[in-house]
Amino acid sequence: MLTIPGKKRGIKEEIFEMSDEPTVVYASGLEGVVVTRTRLSSVDGEAGRLVIAGFPVEELAGRASFEETLYLLWNDALPDGEQLSALRKDLAARRALPRSAVGVLEAAAAERVPPMTALRMAAGTLGLKDGDARDDALTLVAAFPSIVASYRRLSQGQETVEPDPELSHAANYLYMLSGEVPSAEQTRALETYLNTVSDHGMNASTFAARVIVSTRSDIVSAVVGAVGALKGPLHGGAPGPALDVVFEIGEAERAEPVLRGKLERGERLMGFGHRVYKVRDPRADVLAAAAERMYATDADMELYRLALEVEKTAIRLLAEHKPGRNLDTNVEFYTALLLHGLELPTELFTPTFAIGRVGGWTAHCFEQQALDRLIRPQSEYAGREDRSWVPLEER
Ligand code: COA
Repeated sequence: MLTIPGKKRGIKEEIFEMSDEPTVVYASGLEGVVVTRTRLSSVDGEAGRLVIAGFPVEELAGRASFEETLYLLWNDALPDGEQLSALRKDLAARRALPRSAVGVLEAAAAERVPPMTALRMAAGTLGLKDGDARDDALTLVAAFPSIVASYRRLSQGQETVEPDPELSHAANYLYMLSGEVPSAEQTRALETYLNTVSDHGMNASTFAARVIVSTRSDIVSAVVGAVGALKGPLHGGAPGPALDVVFEIGEAERAEPVLRGKLERGERLMGFGHRVYKVRDPRADVLAAAAERMYATDADMELYRLALEVEKTAIRLLAEHKPGRNLDTNVEFYTALLLHGLELPTELFTPTFAIGRVGGWTAHCFEQQALDRLIRPQSEYAGREDRSWVPLEER
């Protein structure tokens, strides 16, 4: 067995020869392993470039409605007017939750479970009948905002708000949360966010969805698995803490001492650094521009200015603290600012991420179904080989 020194500390990579098979690479986190070909998105961490179905994220995210992005992901082309209005109608018709989902959400609210757990529980009720894949995907995408908004209201002891079929997917989500029709700027900001996070290469939740559907299981099962993967703190991210730091700093003059103190205590600055992006995360700029436009009309511009100051100071101090590492702003920093500006509570940040990413998950499921190849990696046995059975009375 040959051990290759890991490029990063803590990553164990080995190559071992198996008698009748070609050389097999062992990478415990599948780093560097290409598991499929996709036309859905490309993440270039060195160049800081994200392409979604052919469009650089900065070209697409601020222009497309979420429905257009969804159509693009599913069909590899932008819709014409007729195709778009048909998709809008299809989605709007599926927003109302089935009785089983409402019952599950009421039970979840009584138990005060976290919103991602409630989303996982209710999403499972969307596949009680074996449906056609496309039909299931439409239902999942349409129902996610209804689940998250209804659960929020139920857990606050409020009546749920009926969906409004006249509103766009993004506007209806905000409407079902607050009971008020959002402004055009608020809707645009949310659409930009949902488009930005709609797909991102072979991340853990997307991989989970593809593994499940590769067994010829159904899309609802695949998406429930993906929600489970996204729920983990290493994936769903923690935009909440990034915002907490901005609030803790409070005024621009305190940015340097507070951030310096954190670095000196060995703490990580939330919203900075990325496993794949070794330069600025391209999603940060898209979301910063969207946040700036929305804060200018619908939110507290002072907070936006403070966040810019915090960001500038953090990048400067990180360069000082970790020279040569290129630690820069990631998607979480501006996600936090943007979603906060939309008056979303921190605990809805990850479920709102899921509302965008379900577009990518379902598109990957279609791709995997077309490929129709079971995903079945190997493991290396590291246990004993020489045990003999000992009867219970002799152990
Ligand atoms: N603040 C302070 N130091 C940081 C840092 C941050 N945000 N991100 C990385 N570093 C430091 C690490 O402590 C490490 O230092 P060491 O070598 O002295 O131990 C070095 O930079 C390693 O960086 P790198 O290998 O690029 O990071 P990673 O791939 O292990 O981690 C993250 C990537 C995202 C987990 C990491 O940057 C992080 O924890 N960021 C803050 C949390 C966050 O914003 N998460 C959301 C990501 S979208």
